Amino acid sequence: QIGNIAQQLGTPVYLVGGAVRDLFLERYAPDLDVAVEGDVRSLVEACKAQIPGTDYQYHARFGTATLQDSRGFSLDLAQCRVEHYPAPAALPEVRPGNIGEDLIRRDFTINAMALSLDPENFASLLDPYGGRIDLQRGQLRTLHSRSFLDDPTRILRGLRFATRFQMNLAPESRQQLQEALRDDIFARLSAARLWREICYLLELVALPQALSLLSEWHLWFLLRPAPMDILAMQALLGRGQEQIQWLQQQFPEVSIAVSTLMLILLWQDLSWTDIQRPLDQWPIPDRNRLEADLRILPDLPRRIAQAIRPSQRANIWQACSLAGILAAMAMYPDDRALKDSARLYLQEQKSLQPIFNGQELQALGLSAGPSLGNILKRLRDAQLDRDIADKETAQQWLIK
Ligand code: CTP
Repeated sequence: QIGNIAQQLGTPVYLVGGAVRDLFLERYAPDLDVAVEGDVRSLVEACKAQIPGTDYQYHARFGTATLQDSRGFSLDLAQCRVEHYPAPAALPEVRPGNIGEDLIRRDFTINAMALSLDPENFASLLDPYGGRIDLQRGQLRTLHSRSFLDDPTRILRGLRFATRFQMNLAPESRQQLQEALRDDIFARLSAARLWREICYLLELVALPQALSLLSEWHLWFLLRPAPMDILAMQALLGRGQEQIQWLQQQFPEVSIAVSTLMLILLWQDLSWTDIQRPLDQWPIPDRNRLEADLRILPDLPRRIAQAIRPSQRANIWQACSLAGILAAMAMYPDDRALKDSARLYLQEQKSLQPIFNGQELQALGLSAGPSLGNILKRLRDAQLDRDIADKETAQQWLIK
């Protein structure tokens, strides 16, 4: 339908980028990007007028739009553009262009294909750089020699594509990678942009496999000094991913910061000097919690083993973030007591109903203030230790 409407307006439109690549790989494409050789706003307005139930958001700053139909199906539209990088690793300057210019500005040949949505030659392929053959041959190839220098995030994007689709970096692109690293190109990239790419990497399902490529592409320096034993690190991260699956099964409503958990696992064997720079520079959410987890983790098995009462163990876990708890379960896979205690803690945290709440304690004559909070905590400890079980035993305990 969008092709028909675009044709009426005399505006050529194309499906571009990852969606075309994923189509040839027979993979589900979550995001559909449409390149428009003309005015995006007029096109989405015409779609809204002609297709019942359709609506759009227009982002004037970028000249892009998102179009949704009544079933929630959505397309991202952007005007075809020419990009010019004023300096290495700087954000590009852009101006409107045609589809040929829009394809050549892209990162890899496999992402530089377009399918026409014009009804007259619907689904005809534009593939000026041989992306389809590269896909078949498993070759990840940049479009031009300055690609990584213009935009070093493409190096990490490339690593993700190579991992996800099991592709090899083409020889000339490998050389460009080496040149870009010799130029210390990542030093020019802002910490925020680097952090975003690192997060995408850490969230990869195939992260354990990506570690081999970090070695092969000489990129460990971005994250940490290369580990001595890559296989052990891969196994550790794999166990971290298993813990996430377990959590999602047990507590589907709980969300976990996957990138934080993976960072903890990647950094758990390092000294503070090794991680101080990324810790200081990257905008890591909840950085203090991550640091606290890293401090707690090495001594955790000993402390859990020495804790006698269930409330003592619960208080140890309480000092960890959820990512820290899952990291501990991944780091100490043979410590049954530690894993059982972590799981029990997570279950009780969700299911344990306090015997008295603050209001009920005040009704019993206790006054509000910090000491009330303290009594609530001690009541919870007593409940965890099975010293009290109901209101009656709790009241006796309070009197004592
Ligand atoms: N692109 C680029 N250089 C970048 C980022 C994006 O050339 N630094 C281009 C690529 O052509 C890419 C398209 O913009 O295909 C869309 O980018 P994005 O949605 O980030 O990636 P996808 O290729 O769709 O891949 P994914 O499956 O990871 O979303």
